[in-house]
Amino acid sequence: MNKNICCIGAGYIGGPTMAVIAKYCPDRTIMVVDINQKRIDAWNSDHLPIYEPGLDELVKKYRGKNLFFSTNSVEAIKACDIIFVGVNTPTKTFGRGAGYASDLQYWEATARNIAAAANGDKIVVEKCTLPVRTATAMERILSEHKEYHFDVISNPEFLAEGSAIRDLEQPDRVLIGGHQTPEGLKAVERIADIYAAWVPREKILTTNVWSSELTKLAANAMLAQRISSINAFSALCEETGADIDEVAMAMGLDKRIGPAFLKSGPGFGGSCFKKDILNLVYMCESYGLQKVADYWRQVVLINDYQQERLLSNILKTMFNTVANKKIAIFGFAFKANTGDTRESPAIAICHMLLEEHAQLAITDPKALTHAQEDLKGYPGNIVFTADPYEAAKDADAIVVLTEWDLFKTLDYERIFKVMRKPAFCFDARNCLDAVKLKQIGFQFRGIGKPSSDSTETAGH
Ligand code: UDX
Ligand code: UDX
Repeated sequence: MNKNICCIGAGYIGGPTMAVIAKYCPDRTIMVVDINQKRIDAWNSDHLPIYEPGLDELVKKYRGKNLFFSTNSVEAIKACDIIFVGVNTPTKTFGRGAGYASDLQYWEATARNIAAAANGDKIVVEKCTLPVRTATAMERILSEHKEYHFDVISNPEFLAEGSAIRDLEQPDRVLIGGHQTPEGLKAVERIADIYAAWVPREKILTTNVWSSELTKLAANAMLAQRISSINAFSALCEETGADIDEVAMAMGLDKRIGPAFLKSGPGFGGSCFKKDILNLVYMCESYGLQKVADYWRQVVLINDYQQERLLSNILKTMFNTVANKKIAIFGFAFKANTGDTRESPAIAICHMLLEEHAQLAITDPKALTHAQEDLKGYPGNIVFTADPYEAAKDADAIVVLTEWDLFKTLDYERIFKVMRKPAFCFDARNCLDAVKLKQIGFQFRGIGKPSSDSTETAGH
């Protein structure tokens, strides 16, 4: 067996993960392949297909040395005995389980491609989030190949976008699941050896395959559940005069609760949380665990509710109408430090504002291209600008949807002067200096904050 590594799927997971492996494993050749020629061309150019702090430097340093990007998956499968699979597994949009189950067609096609191109024994590593027991399906397909032996390993990725390189370089843990057979354990060790080049051995956990597959779904569900819990409390804060940031801070000091993932906002976005929870719901239902399914479904419903609530607050505060008013949307990415807009709360919120006939001026330092695609074909008056001052010009309101540092450092006196009055600011991330903005003259509302000083009107 050789030490070369191939990764099928050059996305947000595949690209950064392989770049970090290339850095720490100079003795290994890393080949990242994808069916999308445009994406591969971008990985080979000066403008990488994804924005991630630290990624540009890393790719440019190792590309062409031990890190290669191409569309030739057959060649890569033949050249490498370890094959990571990071293709997308979106929510099914058709047939049974539509809207819930994972669409595994790319995953299965990949298994068949590996079987067809294999020229020797291979270790296949599941990097994407998958329903529990997907490894069995992969094994069934691969075992049709009588000549060679295949081990299927689960090695879920826990990186978060915006901090992917740091998360990969200093992970809380690396999880590797394999069959508890001599071959399975050997394969697990070979994958552990890769990470051991930079991760302390005690942080590399090994479990059985199903535990590893379920841990990834469970971890994402628990994180998302914390966000829905704090957002549910934000609604209560607005009614009672409590302040959600104070509640979160005081609660988070309890070591059993901890401070992370307690930031109230416009609801979670990103490619994983909603998809993984719906997948979990579908799985529970298919095992007859209806109560468990209902419990997790509620996490997604509260997330949608938070976005509807934000719209209600905007309407109430702006005299029950935004028709023909210009609203500046500050931030379209699903979180700061990424250009990714998949499942971004901004998409739903902009749709709702457009339905109310608002005119939108959207600004974001990295996500405008994706924002244009997301809102393409949607009727309404929308302009996109990289300049927040331009977005705010003649606007009736600013709605902050992404906590970019840039938005914290803008000259809000200058912005206030060019806005229509009363000038409203809805900070759905609680990231701006509320006291200062109120002093400047803004009608300011945060999320989960007492609303006594707003110009709230009845209705809605
Ligand atoms: C992916 C999955 O979307 C997610 O479910 C999982 O948890 C982690 O892996 P990500 O890297 O963000 O996450 O996906 P994406 O950026 O969509 O990249 C997947 C890539 O696979 C795409 O570039 C796509 O072109 C490629 N692909 C897809 C293949 O190369 N072959 C296929 O058959 C299908
Ligand atoms: C998530 C998981 O964190 C990661 O472990 C997994 O591998 C993939 O899914 P990601 O979606 O990239 O990562 O980002 P994350 O930082 O988890 O944020 C997800 C969403 O939750 C964002 O929209 C973010 O703004 C929101 N969020 C996060 C909050 O609203 N409040 C918080 O306290 C934390």
